[in-house]
Amino acid sequence: MKIFLDTANLDEIRAGVEQGLVDGVTTNPSLVAKEQCKFKDRVIEICEVVGGPVSAEVTATDTAGMISEAREISGWHQHVVVKIPLIPAGLSAIRVLAQEGIRTNCTLCFSVTQAWLAAKAGATYISPFVGRLDDIGHDGIELVAEIREAYDQHGYMTEVLAASLRHAMHVKQALLVGADVATIPFKVFQQVVKHPLTDKGLSAFLADWEKVKDIV
Ligand code: G3P
Repeated sequence: MKIFLDTANLDEIRAGVEQGLVDGVTTNPSLVAKEQCKFKDRVIEICEVVGGPVSAEVTATDTAGMISEAREISGWHQHVVVKIPLIPAGLSAIRVLAQEGIRTNCTLCFSVTQAWLAAKAGATYISPFVGRLDDIGHDGIELVAEIREAYDQHGYMTEVLAASLRHAMHVKQALLVGADVATIPFKVFQQVVKHPLTDKGLSAFLADWEKVKDIV
């Protein structure tokens, strides 16, 4: 499963990339708003740092507007993937963009039938929002599992990008149900590597090594 960082913060992205485990980045208008930066410049900077797919979202809500924005955004850098909302006009835009070879991440997916239509339209990625479904008492990970099953059953190549992952358990579950990508906030990226027994065990090994390291 690939790891994308779900952030528009350059320091976080640099730190993640330095570890060598980050494959890409996803942004959305809310994440960009937190940074108070020029959208185009930030997207290009992120592309340069991460060297992998970087999702940047359109803000038009009609098909022609989305297509025109997507053509522009995708020209900013070779790593840009255009994020398109899963609304009827968005699916029409994805279809046209797929024919033009422009990669898309179909976002705000909350049902398996929506995911099916995105795949039919030719989306490169589908983004089911796990945490937001959990927020309203539904099982977000179950949706990721169902999309995986449906895509495998019908041979769709659209990659399942588990989004709105809020904690380590979400990441574990996304891994186990076969998501192709997990996009995670930087804080969660730092949490998933940690285990108290690893730290405790390492301290004990190093302390014991101190007792014998000078024996010749
Ligand atoms: O990738 C989508 C993500 O940014 C949404 O996360 O926590 O706002 O539901 P959240």
